[in-house]
Amino acid sequence: MRIRFRNELPEPSSIHWHGVRVDNSMDGVAGLTQAPVPPGDTFDYEVNLPDAGTFWYHAHTKSWDQVARGLYGPLIVEERAPTFTPEADILLMLDDWRLDAQGRFDAASLGNMMDWSHAGRLGNYLTVNGMTSPDISVPANTWLRLRLINACNSRILEIDPNRFSARVIAYDGQAIGEARELDYAPLLLGPAQRVDLLVRFDTPGPVALEELSQSSAYRFATLNVADNETRQDREPTLPPNLLPAPDLRNAQMFELLMEGGAMGQMSQLTYNGRAQTRMDFMANKQVWGFNGVANMADEPFFSVARGQSVIVNVVNRTSFPHAMHTHGHHFKLLERNGQAGDEQIWRDTFLIEPDGMAKIAFVADNPGKWLFHCHMLEHAAAGMTTWFEIT
Ligand code: C2O
Ligand code: CU
Repeated sequence: MRIRFRNELPEPSSIHWHGVRVDNSMDGVAGLTQAPVPPGDTFDYEVNLPDAGTFWYHAHTKSWDQVARGLYGPLIVEERAPTFTPEADILLMLDDWRLDAQGRFDAASLGNMMDWSHAGRLGNYLTVNGMTSPDISVPANTWLRLRLINACNSRILEIDPNRFSARVIAYDGQAIGEARELDYAPLLLGPAQRVDLLVRFDTPGPVALEELSQSSAYRFATLNVADNETRQDREPTLPPNLLPAPDLRNAQMFELLMEGGAMGQMSQLTYNGRAQTRMDFMANKQVWGFNGVANMADEPFFSVARGQSVIVNVVNRTSFPHAMHTHGHHFKLLERNGQAGDEQIWRDTFLIEPDGMAKIAFVADNPGKWLFHCHMLEHAAAGMTTWFEIT
């Protein structure tokens, strides 16, 4: 895919192709993989698309501000042989906006230190594809693919696919092979995460899709199932993409300790090579750390040779959940809080709860400098950003 990005903002920007295993120089991280694109300038992105699935793209310069203002979109990579007709392929991109008392986008609260040190910027108005609780018509008796993308800055969305008899067929753009009914609820969809659901409705009428993180359920969209003579019996299957399986016996292990934030503790925090004092915290707005460092040290978190399998053990010693994202690589979740992860599932973003731990593994097969950060964009800006290098 070739995209000419023209920046008509009054400030620099760049674009990241979230979840796509791109060439490092096209990853869009200003200050790491490219210079920020100045106002009025252009940048030509040339993006390889090795995997079919549900991805998205978003601004990756001052993301906490630019993404909150809506600088993002879906990026759908089709399978070689399409499995779903366009009427059966439904995109639901969710975002929670923060509106002020007049119902306008609340720009004044961008950068609010309370948000940065707590749960991030949480909105008060949920939209789907930029609309308020839209009605979407879908054919009856047809297998549908619902692609859900969480574009919120920091909100973890809660959805229960069992309420409308849907099963999961893909996480974070990667098909899992066989459709799966969840034996738990709700499904947590963290910032930047995607889930593809498979469902067929046999009776015409409305089906409510609800978000459950608040005390009362919010209907974010209605599927209006329309009569349809022909019945599609055979259940479609999505072919998984081919990703390299990590070699766990010969993997290199790394530890990432997440600290800081409100109600958390941190022994020492270094920022820009200097130990922070209490005064610095407020001035620099750096309140979270990875292994005692806030934001982008000169040295990478780790550096490995191309082809090396790595295991990263992440320990969350903060009072908040986080949504950790590896650039350029999908990983297997080996373990979460002492429980084995799922062999079939590849992800590019994982949730980790307060005082939780998670162990991920992947093959570092794409040379370059890659970010590893919390996708709660305020947390990322306030310290939860590091990088690793593949030589
Ligand atoms: Cu969605 Cu650093 O990215
Ligand atoms: Cu976070």
